[in-house]
Amino acid sequence: MCGIVALVGSREAAFQLLDGLRQLEYRGYDSAGIATVDASGRITCLKTEGKLINLTARVDEQGAPGRCGIGHTRWATHGKPEERNAHPHCSVDGAVAVVQNGIIENYRNLRETLQANGAVFLSETDTEVIPHLISAELSRWLASGETASGTLLLQVVQTVLPQLQGAYALAVIWKQAPGALVVARKIAPLLIGLGEGEFLCASDTPALASFTRTILPMEDGEVALLSPLGVELYNTQGERQQRMPTLLTGADHVADKRGFRHFMLKEIHEQPEIAELWVTRHLPQGLTAQMPVALPLETSFYRDIERVEILACGTSRHAALVGAYLLEQFAGLPTTVYYASEFRYAPPPLAPNTLTIGVTQSGETADTLAALTMEAKRRRAHGDPAYAPRQLGVTNRPESSLSRQMPHILDIGAGIEIGVAATKTFLGQLLTFYGLAMAFAAKRSSRSADEISALADELRKLPEQLRALVNLHDQRCAGLAHRFAAIQDVIFLGRGINYPIALEGALKLKEISYIHAEGYPAGEMKHGPIALLDAHVPVVSIAVPGMVFEKVLSNAQEAKARDAQLIGVAPEGPDTALFDELLPVPEMSEWISPLFTVIPMQLLSYHIAAHRGLDVDQPRNLAKSVTVE
Ligand code: G6P
Repeated sequence: MCGIVALVGSREAAFQLLDGLRQLEYRGYDSAGIATVDASGRITCLKTEGKLINLTARVDEQGAPGRCGIGHTRWATHGKPEERNAHPHCSVDGAVAVVQNGIIENYRNLRETLQANGAVFLSETDTEVIPHLISAELSRWLASGETASGTLLLQVVQTVLPQLQGAYALAVIWKQAPGALVVARKIAPLLIGLGEGEFLCASDTPALASFTRTILPMEDGEVALLSPLGVELYNTQGERQQRMPTLLTGADHVADKRGFRHFMLKEIHEQPEIAELWVTRHLPQGLTAQMPVALPLETSFYRDIERVEILACGTSRHAALVGAYLLEQFAGLPTTVYYASEFRYAPPPLAPNTLTIGVTQSGETADTLAALTMEAKRRRAHGDPAYAPRQLGVTNRPESSLSRQMPHILDIGAGIEIGVAATKTFLGQLLTFYGLAMAFAAKRSSRSADEISALADELRKLPEQLRALVNLHDQRCAGLAHRFAAIQDVIFLGRGINYPIALEGALKLKEISYIHAEGYPAGEMKHGPIALLDAHVPVVSIAVPGMVFEKVLSNAQEAKARDAQLIGVAPEGPDTALFDELLPVPEMSEWISPLFTVIPMQLLSYHIAAHRGLDVDQPRNLAKSVTVE
């Protein structure tokens, strides 16, 4: 989704802004722009439709002098992805330029008022009201005798912000304060970077990591003035804030394909390492029957929890569905998964002693964050301690807004994921739920110590098995991809713990190959989807030995009888000979099967999309982290 980079320092800004924007490309965007201001107060604003290469060419051609500037990659919400809607947006006199992430919900009213006062709008965006408001306010303050300065710009922005409803992260420059950058955030994320002789601001860490490792994440509602002299940070009440910066650790904040053709393929191949890291961290030697998994949660965390509700979106929701299966079936804990976007406006009646888990790899998904906030609020309002909020976040970004909002966090530790289609973070989320299910099963004595340690032993073997599986299916799926050249619909079937994997398989395929795909619980196929089947609709069926093995095979037979091409994700053997094509998985306990069956799903989608020559890492219309509702 939209990305912001802004900086002020001692070096020319334009190419650094472009470098920063390049690190945000993975988030998904459709146009881009920068604005710089030079020492004489000249603002140069350049923007282009499409990829950053277009903007870079424009900057090369026209130049954008100045040591202070703002940059943006836009993912269209209000107005088509055209040059005039790209950010930055400027005031009528060109004196103020603004980039913004998020949505200003009351922009129509603001726009009408500004138009009535003579403002001319050049775009269809909600953002454009901001430079107009700031410019009008600056004129008023200057007319009343104030002197132009960065501090004045800061004060004016602080005056304007309360007029904006919705979520935003923004950065502003003004030609009369060429060494000043004002940035602000409400709900949408923004981080300040403290570099050598320069100060930066960005909506996501990769854009800062190539400049500095020292970061200061902005809190909700904060505003900051960045100048070559330093950073002044203020809260919503206008009080100056002093906070220690934090250090970005690890090498993974910078995007690197490590020789793979796409980030997505690299990330699929990283999954065995992630499993290994997880096993090392969470299943070390010396665990006890009371706590068979090492999680950073105190004993009191588990006390009296009677049910779980999980809020998530997209792939994270699919991981949550596997999690719910494990929590219910393995740990005996009633669990419900909600689309965060639905939960916000239709929450269930409150139940006591409930743990609310928010799952979001980015830690920034607006619907998930808002649903969690809303749930905490209504639980606090209840008054009875049994109904008090008890929340846990599961994320891949410990520096994210989710982490700052949650009392407890489980970091899935998958390293930054660049491909828009989530793969390794999905595996990390699944592993986290295995850890939680084992912990709850032990705490609630819903499984014997032997059953829990059998699961732990299987998980310990996972890294090696995954290594073989990823390599095998990379080749197999590459060989299969051409068969999907003319396919328009695919059905994915799974049951029980593998039903969410069927959903995930279908989501992966549609996200990156633009082939229509749906996942169904295999038993539901005969209640509708079967009408779609013929020789042109392949059916991918997940069939692993266990509770529903024979049932899934029968459902697959029903599809075969309708001439569908059958692709099985199943172990090799006489039972699975009915499949026209087999993507084999090893024999394993049904409990851990999703960790295996998801691999061919990911690689099949990847190779089909790559074979079609599509932009696998940045599929059209999608964004990596969805910071608007
Ligand atoms: C976007 C991405 C999906 C992702 C979803 C939830 O739609 O394209 O890949 O699953 O957001 O993201 P989250 O960061 O909350 O896991």
